[in-house]
Amino acid sequence: MGPGPSDVAPSVLRAMSQPLVGHLDPVFVKMMEEIKAMLRAVFRTKNDLTFPISGTGSAGMEFCCVNLIEPGDEVIIGVNGVFGTRMCDVAERCGAKVTKVEAPWGRIIEPRQIADALKQTPHPKFVAIVHAETSTGALTPVAEISQLAHAAGALFLLDTVTSLAGCPVAIDEWQVDAVYSGTQKCLSAPPGLSPVSLSPQALEVARSRRKKVQSWYLDVNLLSSYWGQERVYHHTAPISMNYGLHEALRLVLLEGLEARWQRHEQNHLALKAGLAEMGLSIVSQEGHQLWQLNAVGVPEGVDELAVRKQLLADYNIEIGAGLGPLKGKIWRVGLMGATSQRENVDKVLGALRAILKK
Ligand SMILES: Cc1ncc(COP(=O)(O)O)c(C=O)c1O
Repeated sequence: MGPGPSDVAPSVLRAMSQPLVGHLDPVFVKMMEEIKAMLRAVFRTKNDLTFPISGTGSAGMEFCCVNLIEPGDEVIIGVNGVFGTRMCDVAERCGAKVTKVEAPWGRIIEPRQIADALKQTPHPKFVAIVHAETSTGALTPVAEISQLAHAAGALFLLDTVTSLAGCPVAIDEWQVDAVYSGTQKCLSAPPGLSPVSLSPQALEVARSRRKKVQSWYLDVNLLSSYWGQERVYHHTAPISMNYGLHEALRLVLLEGLEARWQRHEQNHLALKAGLAEMGLSIVSQEGHQLWQLNAVGVPEGVDELAVRKQLLADYNIEIGAGLGPLKGKIWRVGLMGATSQRENVDKVLGALRAILKK
C-alpha cells in the first residue's frame, strides 16, 4: 500500500511465466498490436504512435524530453513535487533552458501561474506538468493548462505515471501532445515498461529535428520502425514484461475505465472518512486530492518511521514515507490498481488505529 509498485493480479503473474517467443515472432507481433490498441483505449487517444517503452516511468519521461528538445530550446515545467523536479533535470540534460513554475508541495499548479510564465517565456517548445504528483498526493487539472500551451504555439506534455487507469485521463480531449506512464501503479503490472503516446504534431517535431536524437535507445524515429508496421529490429523487447502488460490492460478494460475510477474514488473516500474518525487527515490540497495516493499527515509527536516499521513487521503492510520537504510529515498510503480494495482500507485503518493507540 505504498506509492507503487501496486499488487498484481495472479493472471498477470501467470502471463509473465509463459514460455518465451522471439521479439519478431508472429505471435508476439500480434500481441504488440493488441497492446497498442488497448493502450490507446486506456489513454483515450487515437494517436497512432502509442506503445510501451522498455524501461520504467522515468524512461518514458526521458523519451518525451529527448525526442522533443533540441539544445537551446526553452521549456516550461510545473514543479510541485519530486517528479516535476526530476523532469527539469532531464530537460536540462537535453540542453533545454527550463522555466520552472513552482507550487508548494501538496498544492496544484494553477493555470494563471503557467499564463504568467508564458509572459516571460512566450515561445517554449513545450509546457509540461505532472498530472498526479505521487510525492504529494495532488492532482493538477489539465485542460486549461493545455489550452494555454497551445495558444502560445507550444506542445503540451503530461506525466500520467500515477494517474493512468486510477482516475480520468483523456489524452485527445485534453489535447496532450506527449504523454508517458508506468506499469506499476494503477495499471497493476510489475515495474519495467512505460506506455507513451505522441500526437501527430509531436511526432512531426521529432521527425523534423535539426540534429539526431541524442539517445539511440529512446529515438522515436528508430523505435517506431519496430513498433510500427516495418518491424525492423531495434532492441530485444522484454517479452515477459509485455505478456504481463497485455494481461493487465485486458483486466483494466474488462473492469471498464469508469468503473475502475469509481472504485479508486470510493476507496479513497472510505480511507479519508476512517482517518477522520481517528483525528487524522489527508494534507494535500482539498478538492485536488488523489484517489490512488493518500498523503496522510503524521500527528504531532509521532515517530513516523516507527509506525511504518511496525505496520510492516506486525501487519505485513507497507506504506510510503514523505519525500523532500514532506519527509517526516506525511505517510503515503497507496490505493492503486489491484491494491485499491475496501478490505485493504479497513486493514490499514485498523492497524494504524492499534499502533497509534499503543
Ligand atoms: C508521477 C511519477 N512520475 C515519474 C515516476 C518515475 O517512474 P519510475 O520510478 O517507474 O521510473 C514516478 C515514480 O514513482 C511517478 O510517480
